[in-house]
Amino acid sequence: MPKFEQNGQVINLTQKRRQKESNTIAMHTDKYSTRVISVTSGKGGVGKTNIVANLGYCLRKAGNRVLIFDADLGLGNLDVLLGLAPKYNLSHVIQGKKALSEIIVKGPGNIEILPASSGIQELTSLTSSQKNDLFNELNKLLSNYDIVLFDTAAGISSNVLSFNASANEIMVVITPEPTSITDAYALIKVLSIKYHEKYFRLIVNLAKNNREADDVSRQLCLVADRFLDVSIEYFGSVLADENVKKSVCKQKIVCEMAPMTKAGRNFSELTHKLIRSMPMISQSENKALMWRDIL
Ligand SMILES: Nc1ncnc2c1ncn2[C@@H]1O[C@H](COP(=O)(O)OP(=O)(O)OP(=O)(O)O)[C@@H](O)[C@H]1O
Ligand SMILES: [Mg+2]
Repeated sequence: MPKFEQNGQVINLTQKRRQKESNTIAMHTDKYSTRVISVTSGKGGVGKTNIVANLGYCLRKAGNRVLIFDADLGLGNLDVLLGLAPKYNLSHVIQGKKALSEIIVKGPGNIEILPASSGIQELTSLTSSQKNDLFNELNKLLSNYDIVLFDTAAGISSNVLSFNASANEIMVVITPEPTSITDAYALIKVLSIKYHEKYFRLIVNLAKNNREADDVSRQLCLVADRFLDVSIEYFGSVLADENVKKSVCKQKIVCEMAPMTKAGRNFSELTHKLIRSMPMISQSENKALMWRDIL
C-alpha cells in the first residue's frame, strides 16, 4: 500500500484519498476553478519556457487571468526571456523576506509572473516544510487566476516530479530528437509509477512540418501504450521557426513580436485548443494544490 507523510503522520493511500475527498467538500470551489497546468520535459532545452511564455501571453489576450510560476527553481530564466529584471524572486520568499504575492511582476500583455532565481542552489533542495509553505501561499493566490502555468526544469529530479504531480494537468514537451523522446518516456514512467499520474498531454516542438510532429508523437504514444498504464493525448505542435530564436535574442516573445509567423500561429492554435479542452481528469478527481512528495 503506497504511503504518504502529512504533518509528520504516515497515512496510507486509501486514508489519503478519503482525506482528499473530505477536503474537497470543505474547500471553496474557487480553488477548483483554477486550472493549474505544468509544462515539463525529460530533456532540457526543448522549448518549455518559450511555450509557457507564449501560451500565457495568448491566454491573457483571450481574457484569462494568467499566472506563470517559474518552477525551474535553481536555474529559472523566464524573467530573462521576457526582458524583465525583477527585484525579488522565490529565494526571498523562501528566506521569509517577502510574501509570494509581493514578488509577482507583470510581463508582456499583463501576464503575471512569479520569478525564480538563477544560481541559488538552496532552491533545488527545499525542505518539505518550505515546499508546503510555498504551496500554502500559492493556494491563497489561486482564486485571483483562471490559469496557472508551471514552467518546470527538465528531468526527473524530485522538484520536477512534485510540481508535475501537484498540477491538475501535465503537458510534456518533446522534439524530434530521439533523446528527447526517451527522456520524456522516462519522465512519464516515473510519474505514473511513483505518483500514479495517468493523463498526459503532448506538445511537439521544433518539428520541420506537421507530418514529422505527428510521427514523433506517435512514436512516444506507441511505446507508452505498450509498456505503461497511461493515457497520452497528442495536443499539438510548434514548428521550428527562426522567428522564435530572433525573439529570444531580443528578449521578446514571438507572439508579441511576430504573431503571424509559423510559430506565432501555432501558439495561437494551441491556446484555443487549451481553452476549449477540459482537463483530462474528472472534476471529482481534481486535486487540491498540494505539494506531493513521495516517500
Ligand atoms: N519553435 C522553435 N523554433 C525555433 N527555435 C526554438 C523553438 N522553440 C525553442 N527554440 C529555441 O530553443 C531554445 C531553448 O528554448 P527554451 O529555453 O524555451 O527551452 P527549455 O525547455 O525551457 O530549456 P530548459 O530545459 O533549459 O529550461 C530557445 O532559446 C530557442 O532559441
Ligand atoms: Mg526553461
